Amino acid sequence: MRIDILTLFPAMFAGPFSESIIKRATEKGILEIIVHQIRDYAPDKHHITDDYPYGGGAGMVMKPEPLFSAVESILGLPPLSRDNCVLPEAMQEGMTSPSCVSAYTTVPVILMTPQGRQFDQHVAHELAAHDRLLFICGHYEGVDERVREHLVTDEVSIGDYVLTGGELPAMVVIDALARLIPGVLGAEEATHEESHTRGTLEYPQYTRPANFRGWAVPPVLLSGHHGEVERFHQTESLRRTLRRRPELLRRAELTKEEEKILRKLLKG
Ligand SMILES: C[S@@+](CC[C@H](N)C(=O)[O-])C[C@H]1O[C@@H](n2cnc3c(N)ncnc32)[C@H](O)[C@@H]1O
Repeated sequence: MRIDILTLFPAMFAGPFSESIIKRATEKGILEIIVHQIRDYAPDKHHITDDYPYGGGAGMVMKPEPLFSAVESILGLPPLSRDNCVLPEAMQEGMTSPSCVSAYTTVPVILMTPQGRQFDQHVAHELAAHDRLLFICGHYEGVDERVREHLVTDEVSIGDYVLTGGELPAMVVIDALARLIPGVLGAEEATHEESHTRGTLEYPQYTRPANFRGWAVPPVLLSGHHGEVERFHQTESLRRTLRRRPELLRRAELTKEEEKILRKLLKG
């Protein structure tokens, strides 16, 4: 997968993407991450990327010209304008966020914004299925509305709080989706039993020593009895989800066996 990121602060990505699993994935060639400085696409000689909001108000707004130029240049699109952006109606109906850019490319152009759809494991899976993605990281008060309306095809929020920029949110989203791309995680790091994969939280995990300062590991985990260990995992995963995030169980994909365990837990 190729991921392009537009940012005013490219250096922020250096640490997280040059360590651990993401580093290994880029070295293996499974993932290519290209970070672009938005300033390089500003047409004026001072490379200005923000300006005061029309109508007044606090803070600065990111100008549309550098962002449009950057996306057009990276994706090889013609200069987009009102004149060449007539989207077929059928296309508009099926899309989350129909925009001018979708008339020319199928690459998702994703704006990080606290006003976007909420990121979760389902969205991570959806994004991981693409072979190319482009992220726009906002800053200051955000981006000119024409960017949102005509340049992006998706808007994603990592939660109901406001950060200073879209860089950390983009890193969160990229990290979560990257580990779902086949080959990024080794077999020993498989994702199928993890929290949120099937709509439940993962069961508690223990490692050596079996007894740490008097706190012992549940004996069933040392029993070597595969069936009982499996039942312990299912029960504890459901118990934990019920206690901490009961609303998740409405959407969870449970097996018949898990439904039985859940009914028992509900009865107390
Ligand atoms: C200070 S915020 C702007 C918030 C904007 N004025 C608003 O009220 O929606 C600056 C940038 O940080 C990013 N950002 C902040 N919080 C975010 C969140 N929860 N999810 C995704 N991006 C976020 C966005 O790229 C945004 O353009």
